[in-house]
Amino acid sequence: MCGIVAYIGKRSAYPVIVKGLKRLEYRGYDSAGIALLNEDLNIYKKQGKVAQLEEFTIGKDLSGSIGIGHTRWATHGEPCDKNAHPHRSSNGKLAMIHNGIIENYTQLKGELLKKGYEFESDTDTEVLLKFIEDIQKNNQCPLEEAVRIALKRVVGAYVIILLDKDNPDTLIAARKGSPLVIGIGKGEHFLASDASPIIEYTKEVVYVNDYELAIVKADELILKNLGNEKVTPFIQKLDMELAAIEKGGYDHFMLKEINEQPDTIHDCLRGRLDAQHFNIRMAGIDKNIDKLINAQRIMIVACGTSWHAGLVAEYIIEDLCRIPVEVEYASEFRYRNPVIHPGDVIIAISQSGETADTMVAIEKAKEQGAVILGIVNQVGSSIARISDAGAYTHAGPEIGVASTKAFTAQLAVLTMVAMKIAESKGTLNSDKFKHLVQELNAIPEKVPAILAKSNELKALAEKYKDARDFLFLGRGLNFPVALEGALKLKEISYIHAEGYPAAEMKHGPIALVDENLPVVFVATKDAYYEKIVSNIQEIKARKGKVIAIVSEGDDVITKMVDDYFEVPEADETVAPMLSVIPLQLLAYYVGVAKGLDVDKPRNLAKSVTVE
Ligand code: M6R
Repeated sequence: MCGIVAYIGKRSAYPVIVKGLKRLEYRGYDSAGIALLNEDLNIYKKQGKVAQLEEFTIGKDLSGSIGIGHTRWATHGEPCDKNAHPHRSSNGKLAMIHNGIIENYTQLKGELLKKGYEFESDTDTEVLLKFIEDIQKNNQCPLEEAVRIALKRVVGAYVIILLDKDNPDTLIAARKGSPLVIGIGKGEHFLASDASPIIEYTKEVVYVNDYELAIVKADELILKNLGNEKVTPFIQKLDMELAAIEKGGYDHFMLKEINEQPDTIHDCLRGRLDAQHFNIRMAGIDKNIDKLINAQRIMIVACGTSWHAGLVAEYIIEDLCRIPVEVEYASEFRYRNPVIHPGDVIIAISQSGETADTMVAIEKAKEQGAVILGIVNQVGSSIARISDAGAYTHAGPEIGVASTKAFTAQLAVLTMVAMKIAESKGTLNSDKFKHLVQELNAIPEKVPAILAKSNELKALAEKYKDARDFLFLGRGLNFPVALEGALKLKEISYIHAEGYPAAEMKHGPIALVDENLPVVFVATKDAYYEKIVSNIQEIKARKGKVIAIVSEGDDVITKMVDDYFEVPEADETVAPMLSVIPLQLLAYYVGVAKGLDVDKPRNLAKSVTVE
């Protein structure tokens, strides 16, 4: 979703901001813009990609060592030049970029219209900017003061950054609910939605908190709360290398990230899973182990792929720990009136750690006394910070919009959490615990065998790329894997795909089956194997085309189906980390075969920071 970048210092701001916007392209956007301050306040904006903005700025005045830039993912008003950010105030002196949604913008706009303000765009951002301008005019106060007053009236989520022609040495920024990172250089500052535009200049960063205002000069950073009290900036060191956010020779980030999984799963287990001594150490979980083993129930809230990881965790936690688990879409959970008892444990799963629905859901649960465990990939993100405890997934930056390596890392962490609770609670006998430790430990070594056969999936993608619909079926732990396979395919290839529990198919979706419908079965060896064989027969009897993901050496299903792909054998508790990988690759190759932009599929955003 919207990306913001700003710079103040000695360098020319334009190249820093444009490069930064390109680093944020993965978030998803439909227009881009930049404002630069020299003697004039120049604003350039264009619908389309950052490259189009660059083309548009050829020959224009790009001087200035202070500036703000933005990639917009349309919420209020269609994607077009006039709705792109930055916006300019009526007096021409201020420019502002914004990420988030101002919920009461209609009311504020009504007030401003009565005062004679005119609007050039359909955006809530322009309303907020002119609201700030109006306050400054009426109170004859510094911009910082006007921003503070305005934000007290604003309902919604935002990160804003303002340029002020009257104060050409200062950027004013503020946040509530959307992310803002400030990189601290020598005599310069870099502001961005995440660390990727900052990493090549400095590793020292400050994550701005909700309701904080930043007054940023080249050599000074002041943070204040909305009560105008100074807050000491907490400077952190980024644990990230530039290579992690570059393609490294791959055609797409998605392919790179799929191929990184032997390492990312290994990194996730490292220092936690001790296969030699059959031990699991997870600081955040260990500290809260009493709360976890005494929990009457666990609720998992998440969205999209992270929600699928939550479903896998439901099966594992209930099986190993004998604790009831409910898995909720964060967007539903936050608006209904869920029954939460003090001491209930809520596990929030999020790659980005910035998903608005998940964040609000856990804030709500926290208010009611729940203990929040965050399973998050992005270090220092909002969800990680508001959780009581948790565990990072350590998958490294995920740039492709489709979540791949983050999913398998989430499964690795959640499996360890379940094993840890079960061991402490005494619901898992020592032999089974040891067996699972070995099985989990072996996963990173088994992934390369799947990746090595990518060409098989490429061939399948060629064969089935023109299908109009796909059905993905699985049972038990393979059911959420089927859901994830369907999500990946629709995101990347725009082919309609549905995931279903295999046995549920006969209650409706079987009506879709004919010789044109490819049905992907996730049918690795597990307790449901015989049942899924029957489900496959039901599809074959109706002439459906079956592609099966099977365990190595399978000699039953492989004889019944049109196509199959073998994955190494593994205990069913850890098998989803393997069986999902061919589905990621299948989606990837179908997208490529159709000539689509797999890293930035249409309409999607990497980090969904609006509800
Ligand atoms: O950052 P999060 O894990 O909270 O994001 C949740 C979903 O938006 C995300 O998983 C989305 O479904 C992905 N595009 C899936 O590939």
